[in-house]
Amino acid sequence: MMELARRVAEAADLVTVALDELLPRADGPESRLTEAMRYAVLGPGKRLRTFFALETGRMFDLDDRPVLRSACALECIHAYSLVHDDLPCMDDDDVRRGRPTVHKAYDEATAVLAGDALQTAAFEILSHPDTHPDGTIRSELVMRLAVASGARGMAGGQMIDILGVREDLGGVARMQRLKTGALIACAFELPLVLARAKEAERHALMGFAHDLGLAYQIVDDLLDAEGDAEEMGKAAQKDAGKGKANFVTLLGVDAARERLGLLEKQTKSHLDPFGERADFLRASVDFVLERRQ
Ligand code: IPE
Ligand code: IPE
Ligand code: MG
Ligand code: MG
Ligand code: MG
Repeated sequence: MMELARRVAEAADLVTVALDELLPRADGPESRLTEAMRYAVLGPGKRLRTFFALETGRMFDLDDRPVLRSACALECIHAYSLVHDDLPCMDDDDVRRGRPTVHKAYDEATAVLAGDALQTAAFEILSHPDTHPDGTIRSELVMRLAVASGARGMAGGQMIDILGVREDLGGVARMQRLKTGALIACAFELPLVLARAKEAERHALMGFAHDLGLAYQIVDDLLDAEGDAEEMGKAAQKDAGKGKANFVTLLGVDAARERLGLLEKQTKSHLDPFGERADFLRASVDFVLERRQ
């Protein structure tokens, strides 16, 4: 669907321009840190979380501006999670988004600090009055992003991943919900807060986000097993060698793909209550399933 590809590209441009404006610059020696932060965030990411947030906002007739600031915050957290994920003490990767990882382009200490400072930049952006005039709404946004990023979200999931416990399928699903699902769900949660959405709408979209996040991770695991490193802009064939428990190392390629097939219909069905308003979110499921990078 051409229109979908155009909207995804447009969302990516919007968030990259906004991040360039919002991220700090420095003149002193700490400019090494601000440059590393920019290098990490402004690189060519797919910006899918931004796309999900903007489309959800549009479904609720919200202005793009507050949603875009929320997306900037999300992209900062996401970029920080990738910078730390690539460190030698974690996945030890040299290439990300088709370029040297931050600790390769700079050094490990700078990468740790860039991740730290990107995390706080996210909350600085989100809690600023330009995001929303109502402080109650802003604190709700901050709380949602904090929960999704911390021990009950991304960081907790990364801990499970790094421990390399031989999880069963239920354990891998739980790890995914924390590691990647929580931040993907946040791309829907933040606009839902801004829209003061009804409980039924929230429930439906959270069901969608849950299944979409699961599909996203199964695709990520499949790409690790069979994807093209050049096309993906990051290393392939790493998870099995590292003894990681994921959907593909556990189920095998065929069963993982079969599961994805079943998930497609189920994921889209959560959008039924929104009718045509959700057409772009519906189409984005195919985009997630068919991605090659
Ligand atoms: C990669 O995230 C790591 C996971 C969370 C599975 P993305 O696939 O969204 O990476 P970018 O942002 O496009 O580089
Ligand atoms: C990373 O998962 C998830 C987070 C950074 C939270 P992976 O380790 O599978 O991501 P890639 O494959 O390196 O992008
Ligand atoms: Mg990892
Ligand atoms: Mg990794
Ligand atoms: Mg992976």
